[in-house]
Amino acid sequence: MCGITGYIGNRPGVRTVIDMLRRLEYRGYDSAGVAVATHGGKNIEIVKAAGKLSVLEGELSDYWDKQGAAIGHTRWATHGGPTTPNAHPHYSSDGRIALIHNGIIENFQQLRAELQGEGYVFTSETDTETLVHLIEREYKRGEVMEQAIRDALARVTGAYSIVLVSAHEPDVLYAAKTASPLIVGLGENENFLASDIPAVLPYTRQVVVLEDGDFVRVTQASVTLTTLAGERAHRELFTVTWDEQTAEKGGFPHFMLKEIYEQPRAIADTLRGRITPEETVVLPELDGFTREQLAAFTRVQIVACGTAYHAGMVAKRFWEHLLRRPVEVSVASEFRYGDPLVGTDTLCLVVSQSGETADTLAALREARRHGAAIVSVVNVVGSSIARESDAVVYTQAGPEISVASTKAYVTQIVALNLLALHFAFVEGRQSADELTAYVRDLTALPDAVESVLGGALLVEELAERLASRTVFFYLGRGYDYAVSLEAALKLKEISYLHAEAYAAGEMKHGPLALVEPGVVVVCFSTEPRLFDKMLSNIKEVAARGGTVLAVVPENETRADASADEVLRIPVVRPEFSPVVSVVPLQLLAYLIARARGCEIDQPRNLAKSVTVE
Ligand code: AGP
Repeated sequence: MCGITGYIGNRPGVRTVIDMLRRLEYRGYDSAGVAVATHGGKNIEIVKAAGKLSVLEGELSDYWDKQGAAIGHTRWATHGGPTTPNAHPHYSSDGRIALIHNGIIENFQQLRAELQGEGYVFTSETDTETLVHLIEREYKRGEVMEQAIRDALARVTGAYSIVLVSAHEPDVLYAAKTASPLIVGLGENENFLASDIPAVLPYTRQVVVLEDGDFVRVTQASVTLTTLAGERAHRELFTVTWDEQTAEKGGFPHFMLKEIYEQPRAIADTLRGRITPEETVVLPELDGFTREQLAAFTRVQIVACGTAYHAGMVAKRFWEHLLRRPVEVSVASEFRYGDPLVGTDTLCLVVSQSGETADTLAALREARRHGAAIVSVVNVVGSSIARESDAVVYTQAGPEISVASTKAYVTQIVALNLLALHFAFVEGRQSADELTAYVRDLTALPDAVESVLGGALLVEELAERLASRTVFFYLGRGYDYAVSLEAALKLKEISYLHAEAYAAGEMKHGPLALVEPGVVVVCFSTEPRLFDKMLSNIKEVAARGGTVLAVVPENETRADASADEVLRIPVVRPEFSPVVSVVPLQLLAYLIARARGCEIDQPRNLAKSVTVE
């Protein structure tokens, strides 16, 4: 996720915003830039560079000690690769306005075409540049700067937080926010803007957290807060008492927990701009494929590792159900050394958070060698897997720092579901009503996950009761089996406990012999069609003294009599239930690992990005 900083006061502007950006580095980024008002505000100068802050700093010696309002940005690429032209800030065409942005402008293509039609020349592939040109256009139409920004923002749909500095009013920073975070830090005769609290902590602990729809005008001596519509707004002043490390994690003790709580937003961002007002799916990423080419893929091959493989297991069911084609899911390390049955009739879906996993990349190349078309689902823009694919559908999870993947998993499923629905709309096998019902249910997922997180207290109590147990099984059927695999992986990787997932019907073919008092068996039972079958499995486990934790829809009570513990999740379409049912088990894994004193964000022996075989 992008880092935003802004400073106005007597300190050297560039040095201060760079120092603030350093404190946001943990969020991950791939390019950086600053803009500063120089020569008494006559000019706005921008310096930016692909790569780390140290690269940018090497180019800033002329600016280091100068005063002047400044803004800074670290970019996590979304629209356009991680190049210097795509780095922020972006200039207006007359070079008098500089803008930084975090978020996604959904209608940027339409706005870009409109502005190009009026002669505006674009120097980047970003959605952000559209907005700065739009502001310039409104300003040239005779508006004062503040109104020009408001008018331009009124044309924009999507999510953003922005900060702007201009030669028209060099002693003012303007900022606005809809969905992405933004705070104002209040100092003595100086003020700060940032996307996150750690950026301002060395300078001030007095902070205003902006809300969606806020617009703020910041000078050295004042902060004026209004709504986007121009009405006065009031927000509480917040005195930060966290240390810097806690602040980096947004007040959470670990990145993993922070990322679990980010899931509703991550899902919403992954859906954003991909669903039309008519509830159809739009994926311009696939424009390179004709309708005939899409129809000609008679087979689908998914390759991935770890959690991404588990997302593929969920997707297999949905794709086969919706598109009636065989879908093979392979662990990338097996696929690459196998004798895969893929060819020119195969669509290969490559799933990876980092986009750098060595086995997954090798599997991609192997599939390509056999003539398959490659579509990847990746979180990191411009990563190797993204670069080597024919098309990429990015998850918009933002940087995932904890080794244990959480928000990447749910967004991978959502992206794979969107892809399946895109194919279904193109093929027209189902009625439009059937397909729009799926789309509607997908858009309900952020709220469903939010509601699970609202019940975290119950999971905490459960974790206290289970923290001393050492053997866990996870069972499910259908979609629930796919999610069992992921839930078991979460527990084993961060708590170092033995956690094994099985297709529930397989229990009596061997693993049931291991069930005895003390063993915890998590039984996912969210699919109504399979509920009775799962109930039999629950009873089998209970009869052998195992502790049953049933995960059921909130309207289901039939397991209550046999289960020792019951976790209820909101009712969602069974095809989408893994996105919701995994969440309490991510939390449970986290809480058990914490109770056991484990190193949660960086578990022993594991790395975030596995770039070796
Ligand atoms: C799970 O929590 C993991 N960190 C791991 O299994 C991960 O999903 C796997 O290594 C694949 O990584 P990727 O998505 O970056 O390719």
